[in-house]
Amino acid sequence: MNAPPKTFRVKSFGCQMNVYDGDRIAELLTEQGLASVGDGDDADVVVLNTCHIREKAADKAYSDVGRLKREDGTRPTIALAGCVAQAEGAEAKKRSPMIDIVVGPQAYHRLPQMLAQSALGGRPVDTDMPAISKFASLPERRRANPSAFLTVQEGCDKFCTYCVVPYTRGAEVSRPFADIVAEARRLADVGAREITLLGQNVNAWEHEGRDLADLIRAVAEIHGIERIRYTTSHPADMNEALIAAHADVGKLMPYLHLPVQSGSDSILAAMNRSHSTESYLRTIEKVREARPDMAISGDFIVGFPGETEEDFEATLHIVDEVRYASAYSFKYSPRPGTPAAAMEDQVPGEIMDERLQRLHERIDRHRLAFNRSKVGTRTQLLVERPGRRLGQVIGRSPWLQSVHVESDAPPGTMLDVMLTSAGPNSMSGAVRTAEAA
Ligand code: 5AD
Ligand code: SF4
Repeated sequence: MNAPPKTFRVKSFGCQMNVYDGDRIAELLTEQGLASVGDGDDADVVVLNTCHIREKAADKAYSDVGRLKREDGTRPTIALAGCVAQAEGAEAKKRSPMIDIVVGPQAYHRLPQMLAQSALGGRPVDTDMPAISKFASLPERRRANPSAFLTVQEGCDKFCTYCVVPYTRGAEVSRPFADIVAEARRLADVGAREITLLGQNVNAWEHEGRDLADLIRAVAEIHGIERIRYTTSHPADMNEALIAAHADVGKLMPYLHLPVQSGSDSILAAMNRSHSTESYLRTIEKVREARPDMAISGDFIVGFPGETEEDFEATLHIVDEVRYASAYSFKYSPRPGTPAAAMEDQVPGEIMDERLQRLHERIDRHRLAFNRSKVGTRTQLLVERPGRRLGQVIGRSPWLQSVHVESDAPPGTMLDVMLTSAGPNSMSGAVRTAEAA
């Protein structure tokens, strides 16, 4: 039997929901009396909270496990958590004998018991998706960044043909309204000024007749919460009530992440996306009618099986039509068990590389144009952290731009600023003093 662990470190990869889960795992282990140590430091327990969305992300989990061996040949207790753990279960232990614990995203509330089992020489695996949600067994939130995440919905019923999420995160489940509002209040009490409501398909959140727009309106009532965001939305599920909330809920930020994945209708059909380019563009139009300054962001996959040059050009075209304020783009990665992995006409790597580069250039151009369009705008900044230079801080604009300003205001402060210059990845601003206002 080993000495009981005293310190831990959690490392999260992938999406914002993993960041949220990683925070909650840290709170859970802290409650058990373990002390959190920094990223580079040695810890008795290391939790790798992994992502399975693309092959590269999944492989990273195993290379990170390998790197945990210490120079003297010993190693920490290693818990593989997150979506790789869910997808691979006991297989993970075969692939890497250094892994002590395998725990899926719906089972991590049981980590303390699993650590105890592991101390007795066991190698527990828990990838259950229990009927009783983990949330009931997690400790109350203790601290929050000025911008905090709050998971409201998990899982996905859409089954896009490229995607592992329905397998790793399971079916759509919504957390109860009262639990979410209570957690949001608590986050406000411990320092959050902005809350991002998270869900794999956040528009699918519903509880006892309430929908996401109702939830946003309730969170907007909470004293101390100044800003609300939500992600990730599905284009087929953006309802009128949510769009209307953008017109009249002042705390709801003018930023919408609405992945389209491709600008080609035949590729969208092969992806089983349940929307067309036309319905997508119509939704964007309605959103902009409700909130003309809305920043739109998106995700794209290049090189989906069967994607022709013409299909790809249609993707470039929709980027121009939407004028994205920012967007993420990925090379298609075949995932085990998904229908697209078995499709014919897989696109060669070199073609994917070339298309990805062209898409990046197009997206960068629009991002810069969007940022430049805000120069000369007076706005509010939520300070998130100190800047690289002394006397400088970095905050976020309502449009989620990262803005550098000369100020010594602490994180969580709302600053009245003038945006003065724009680059592709960040902006500069100047604080407006009371006199100048
Ligand atoms: N290959 C490449 N990108 C993918 N995504 C999801 N699955 C895959 C895959 N198999 C992308 C989508 C999604 C984002 C989170 O990751 O663009 O919106
Ligand atoms: Fe990655 Fe998807 Fe799991 Fe998030 S839900 S960690 S994006 S596989």
